Amino acid sequence: MTGTKLGIGFIGSGFVTKFHLEAWRGVRDADVLGVYSPNIAHAEAAAARAQELRVGNARAFKSIEDMIAAPEIDCIWLCGPNHLRVQNMQAICDAIQTGRGKLIGIACEKPLARNVAEARQMVQLVEQSGLLHGYLEDQIFAPTVTRGREIMWSRAAALTGRPYLARAAEEHSGPHSPWFWQGELQGGGVLNDMMCHSIEVGRFMLTKPGAPRASIRPVKVSAQIASLKWSRPEYTEILKQNMGADVDYKNKPSEDFARATINYVDEDNKPLIVEVTTSWSYVGAGLRLTLEVLGPEYSLNMNSLDSGLKLFMSREVKGAAGEDLVEKQNAEQGLMPVLGNEAAEYGYESQDRYFVQCFLDGRQPDESFYDGLEITELLMTAYMSAEQERTIRFRPEGLETYVPLVAQGLWKNR
Ligand SMILES: NC(=O)c1ccc[n+]([C@@H]2O[C@H](COP(=O)([O-])OP(=O)(O)OC[C@H]3O[C@@H](n4cnc5c(N)ncnc54)[C@H](O)[C@@H]3O)[C@@H](O)[C@H]2O)c1
Repeated sequence: MTGTKLGIGFIGSGFVTKFHLEAWRGVRDADVLGVYSPNIAHAEAAAARAQELRVGNARAFKSIEDMIAAPEIDCIWLCGPNHLRVQNMQAICDAIQTGRGKLIGIACEKPLARNVAEARQMVQLVEQSGLLHGYLEDQIFAPTVTRGREIMWSRAAALTGRPYLARAAEEHSGPHSPWFWQGELQGGGVLNDMMCHSIEVGRFMLTKPGAPRASIRPVKVSAQIASLKWSRPEYTEILKQNMGADVDYKNKPSEDFARATINYVDEDNKPLIVEVTTSWSYVGAGLRLTLEVLGPEYSLNMNSLDSGLKLFMSREVKGAAGEDLVEKQNAEQGLMPVLGNEAAEYGYESQDRYFVQCFLDGRQPDESFYDGLEITELLMTAYMSAEQERTIRFRPEGLETYVPLVAQGLWKNR
């Protein structure tokens, strides 16, 4: 440990790492000191970005083992692709076992793994390692979500009764790297990629602040998946051009739309409902996160594109396509919403600050690999429900070894 500050090493130098680096400007108790990526040039670029942002004197590492062994690295932020999650975790644990390094904690990006068997492996590995562990679900740290929850529970729910319905949605026009579009690598389509956020945010809003996760209990799941846009012939071609020949959406599609209803029961066995929708087939200004919560005498709602800042640009304002206004931006002209500080507004900043403080204090975070495992169980039950076209009681038989058809490259869009 560097004095009273932790040294953080990132595994992965991609899209999400960039968000974490931006967020780190709001984290006081840790510096970013390392980045590992199999492509050393990418690791060097991310390390340079960390220095430019003044969030740490980061250097690039050639291997996970070298980064773990470095005396300045105390914690790992695991941000590699889903299909390498268990492999990355195994490499960390092997390095620790050989007595290298002195890690305190690990924080892992969503989803914890591609299926329940892998998620359970992640839990076993982290338990064997003795490390403190955190599950990185940024949306439950978003200031609008945490503030909304706090006020709703302390004022409205305290007087009139607990909330009973949460609706959460995450939608954009499709992910940025080829592996997301390959069911076998990613673990599924949009359901696995984004419903993990919406399920957890819905569960979070319906759980009384301070109460344990088990205070509300999922009892059944009903879901549907479809490919609405990207398996149309003209779009499979666009995907191939943009993502490369390995993305064979024509023969191996994955869902670009998913919805699920999860029935929970509360402390008194009364029904609660979480409704979630996710899609890669939404073309609007950019990423749209919506949340609505209903209680007996109140309701709350949030839409990330209803930003306080909007910029109008006429047809004379021309320029290259990019994401300078909002994540997954779809236009450069017209009336566009702008988020002042995306990394903070999506929750990365408060999230990273929370996990750093837990690790620094030697405290097990509340949001952990165990939560990542339960979310994976719910996601897999949703796939089962969609495949079988029926409501499924939670936890169903066969869940431990279940792999969705999408993740086997066998799914047919009907
Ligand atoms: N919280 C969020 O909202 C959010 C957003 C995006 C991505 N994610 C999650 O973060 C993870 C990374 O996604 P991304 O968007 O950064 O992907 P990406 O495709 O942009 O980047 C992936 C990175 O993985 C790294 N990598 C490649 N091979 C590796 C290996 N063998 N070992 C370790 N790292 C390797 C590379 O540095 C690459 O840049 C995924 O699990 C994804 O689900 C979360």
